Amino acid sequence: MTHLAATSPDQGRAHNPNAQGAPIKLRVEGLGKRYGNIDALHALDLDVRSGELLTLLGASGSGKTTLLQIISGLVAPSSGRIVIDGRDQTHAPAHQRDIGVVFQNYALFPHLTVSQNVGFALDMRGVSRAESRRRINEALAMVGLEAMHQRFPRELSGGQQQRVALARCFIYKPSLILMDEPLSALDRKLRETMQMEIKRLHRETGSTIIFVTHDQDEALALSDRICMMHNGRIEQIDTPQAMYERPSTVAVARFIGISNVLEGTVMQGDQLATADATVALPKGHGCQPGTPGALVIRPEHLNVVAADHGALRGTVVEAVYAGVETRIVVRLASGNLIVVRRLSGQAPLGIGSVVGLEWPAHPPHFLSV
Ligand SMILES: Nc1ncnc2c1ncn2[C@@H]1O[C@H](COP(=O)(O)OP(=O)(O)OP(=O)(O)O)[C@@H](O)[C@H]1O
Ligand SMILES: [Mg+2]
Repeated sequence: MTHLAATSPDQGRAHNPNAQGAPIKLRVEGLGKRYGNIDALHALDLDVRSGELLTLLGASGSGKTTLLQIISGLVAPSSGRIVIDGRDQTHAPAHQRDIGVVFQNYALFPHLTVSQNVGFALDMRGVSRAESRRRINEALAMVGLEAMHQRFPRELSGGQQQRVALARCFIYKPSLILMDEPLSALDRKLRETMQMEIKRLHRETGSTIIFVTHDQDEALALSDRICMMHNGRIEQIDTPQAMYERPSTVAVARFIGISNVLEGTVMQGDQLATADATVALPKGHGCQPGTPGALVIRPEHLNVVAADHGALRGTVVEAVYAGVETRIVVRLASGNLIVVRRLSGQAPLGIGSVVGLEWPAHPPHFLSV
């Protein structure tokens, strides 16, 4: 049995912005889940620190919901352990785990008012009426819904209903909160407002949150760390910045932000031979000549230069105006499409122009593949 770091229940903890050095709140050890002959999860290992906001990011079917269901106790794992606050909870029933859950269909009770919906969990726990009223008011104030406490869910907008679901979860101050795509039904503006709301609630309550999304912008905006899942496995766990700047696989690079990927073969003298050009590799890439490799180049790190300059050369095939910037798509001779971000206000580039591309300040990120 693995020795666990000393932990203690952490309700009421002040928020640690990056949660580094905080005790381990949740440890997932060798967790597997098999449905028939499908492995939804393959022996996952994951530590989540107290006060951390970790997002599970990944394509549909990658196992995000399955992992949350096992942590919450709604589904039993096929193998492995769930340890919360240093105690093995693998076989503890869901109601005995100090966990709050917000699911995608926030499932408010239609016949109960906002206050009754929010206070429901307290009634179930036998909290006195006066105490319950105080905590309902506090929770509604947290999400800015005091004035709507007597309304029914059908009298609220989608975003307001979502906030009721958040208040209902935060009211009994669970030290671990699981959220499964809670914002996916909302329009973009409301989503962004709710993301800020969740960040604020997280900061104010110091709770540990595991947040599932398949929206990379949402993951970048919210997380202390992102856990990228792919086919029931963890591809990479890192801070949003590290994930963006130093993806560990081409799949992660393509999932997080817009990536230009140049694949090729490592050559003598720290070079990568690609279909379009031979490109210098960063020193210390550690790959033997003859092995396959890839360079990841972010659109904002590329400059457009004269056609006979730069490391790459191609033809402008698209220009997409996006307010503060314009995205230029350049087709290389191989057919590989490269996206370049240019600040609006720079001289426009006509479709069909032949241009050179270079990355003066930011060496591309190298991956062995
Ligand atoms: N009850 C079940 N019975 C059989 N297979 C299941 C069951 N639940 C999930 N699966 C399978 O397990 C895999 C992981 O599913 P899961 O719901 O965890 O994915 P997800 O990452 O949450 O996807 P999404 O983004 O679409 O919600 C999928 O292949 C799915 O079909
Ligand atoms: Mg899911």
